[in-house]
Amino acid sequence: MELGLKGKTVIITGGGSNIGRAIFLAFVKEGSTVINAEIDEAQAKKVLDEAKGLPGKALFIKTDVTDWDSVQNMVKTAIEKTGQIDVLVNNVGWVYDRLFVEKPREEWEKEIKLNYWSYINCTRGVLDHFIARKGGNIVSVGSDAGRVGEFREAVYGGCKGAIIATSKAIAREVGRYNIRLNVVCPGATIPKKEEVGKDSMWQEAFKFFTPEMAEKATHAYTLRRLGTAAELANAVVFMASDAASFITGQTLSVSGGYSMM
Ligand SMILES: NC(=O)c1ccc[n+]([C@@H]2O[C@H](COP(=O)([O-])OP(=O)(O)OC[C@H]3O[C@@H](n4cnc5c(N)ncnc54)[C@H](O)[C@@H]3O)[C@@H](O)[C@H]2O)c1
Repeated sequence: MELGLKGKTVIITGGGSNIGRAIFLAFVKEGSTVINAEIDEAQAKKVLDEAKGLPGKALFIKTDVTDWDSVQNMVKTAIEKTGQIDVLVNNVGWVYDRLFVEKPREEWEKEIKLNYWSYINCTRGVLDHFIARKGGNIVSVGSDAGRVGEFREAVYGGCKGAIIATSKAIAREVGRYNIRLNVVCPGATIPKKEEVGKDSMWQEAFKFFTPEMAEKATHAYTLRRLGTAAELANAVVFMASDAASFITGQTLSVSGGYSMM
């Protein structure tokens, strides 16, 4: 299958840890020029090192995806450095696993900023460029929480549901410019402790997702195991590729049958 990603410019937000890191490396393996729009410089540098020797090019632009000025600057710099942007992967997200009535307002605000505002900023940030050049591709990392409604993840799931609905709406608006938007939803994807950086949600999530909890969680998955970041990355690469050229406005769960819709 010809993916057509060689030489394409791909921006990944939050490519410094776990799922974003796997997506970043998967595109570099395909020969793309990949830009890590990441806030954590140390993690971004680690991933740049890991990409050495792979066929594509790995770059880093320090970005805070919750800040509109920072996102606009990242998009401008990306175009200056590479000529044009072909793919945006909205990956940054954050969850505090807690019952809705037990959460302080600051936690909801952080979830809304990191999941939904980051998505709006980056999506809006690339669209003028995509419309002008009549092409482009946006793949956003959602969550099954946004499809089924998840215990202890009410506002997070709400933001992911919003990403799904907003992607469909924008897909309808910009399809005429050959721009596609799709969402890929992971199930629980647990990194190794030493792999994640200081701004990873796993600094918090490990408190809830203990090894015992991870083992229990496998029973909710039809395939009786949790997925890996690399398995999720494969689906993102496919959605961004020419092999998916007639797919838009869709939501794909990569979660071992956790949800089936
Ligand atoms: N890991 C899971 O179990 C799981 C399950 C379902 C959905 N998801 C979704 O997958 C995506 C990735 O999850 P993950 O587990 O890899 O998360 P993670 O927190 O480990 O990684 C996110 C990355 O984003 C970076 N980041 C944080 N704030 C940023 C900001 N303001 N600007 C730029 N970069 C910033 C962090 O430094 C980190 O490298 C998220 O959208 C998450 O909601 C994850």
